[in-house]
Amino acid sequence: MKKTVKEIDVVGKRVLVRVDFNVPLENGAVVDDTRIRAALGTINYLRQAGSRVILISHLGRPKDGPDDALRMDPIAARLSDLLGVEVMKLNDCIGPEVEARLAELPSGGVALLENSRFHPEEKKNDPEFAAALARLADVFVNDAFGTAHRAHASTAGVAALLPSVAGFLLENELLQLNHLIAHPKHPFVTILGGVKVSDKIGVIDRFLDFADAIIIGGAMCFGFLKAQGIDIGASKVEEEAIGVAAAALEKAKSSKCRIMLPVDLVVADEFAAEAHAQIVRVEQIPEGWMGLDIGPATSAHYVREIQMARTIFWNGPMGAFEMEPFSSGTRAVASAVANADDALTVSGGGDTVAALNRYGLADNLDHVSTGGGASMEFLEGKELPGIAVLQDA
Ligand code: 3PG
Repeated sequence: MKKTVKEIDVVGKRVLVRVDFNVPLENGAVVDDTRIRAALGTINYLRQAGSRVILISHLGRPKDGPDDALRMDPIAARLSDLLGVEVMKLNDCIGPEVEARLAELPSGGVALLENSRFHPEEKKNDPEFAAALARLADVFVNDAFGTAHRAHASTAGVAALLPSVAGFLLENELLQLNHLIAHPKHPFVTILGGVKVSDKIGVIDRFLDFADAIIIGGAMCFGFLKAQGIDIGASKVEEEAIGVAAAALEKAKSSKCRIMLPVDLVVADEFAAEAHAQIVRVEQIPEGWMGLDIGPATSAHYVREIQMARTIFWNGPMGAFEMEPFSSGTRAVASAVANADDALTVSGGGDTVAALNRYGLADNLDHVSTGGGASMEFLEGKELPGIAVLQDA
């Protein structure tokens, strides 16, 4: 276990907190503040302890330096509302001007630095950039579980230069995800969807060793169907997905874990909400049509499997659920997971959380991870660089 913010002296200290405020924005406003609310526990604890709280996060993937669309101002506004106190928003994250403004931050005050990725040095984990960040504070707290799989200057580099501990959000993620894999009750069912098989190779491989069933939906099912020689029409598929899927299907032959694939699909003649759509067996996708959701027979199989499970992990929607005609599969799976009262239920990933929020079901699960890629890498068994560098308890 890692030391937490409770096990280090923060009273009156300047505390740099790495948060993951990489949240969706629309027309310059935050549309989902789940990640901001999830960090309030640590921020309020530090404020009450009289720390000067200096928050840092990335937002999006800016290409060449500062990008006005990716400034942290809307997030500072939302955070000010949630905290009921004005957050000091700075226009950079290092340098003499930032240091001068932070010198004015009162005890219990909160500052939010500008998007860390406006400096290309952030992603390179540049030692000078990390040192400039370290100059701002006495203590470093990592509460950015969603970014813990990135070895960047504001996650790993700065942590090596200051006394560094975990925040409450990070601590809770580790407890919940460890609990999921330490002694899972069986049947253990994993539901994987979304587009990218390549992001999920490690998890598929690991879960084939100890889950009872892996349910596959979303665009990633097409790699599996194609690997079985099925004509998938114009459905989206990553080139490398087919080989990965073939290897997983081969491994499943000697594993007690079943890989479950769709038997029917909702197919459309274009990727649009108003497209013509029909339900077909997977072997009967018409030429030029693409699968955009699992079909009703598949949903029924998947729901039955979920209802029998005692442990469930879900990452990735079953289809293009943001378009109403292709949302039934994701909605059916979301409600089955949310209603699985006898099972430990955990989910992760931006799209999965968005689906749960859309159907008002997120609160029914035991744990909704703030991490997408991070939760997958953690469950794969990888050591996450943003966590490895923190002090041990
Ligand atoms: C996420 O949203 O998964 C994290 O904030 C990491 O973002 P990144 O994939 O751009 O590093």
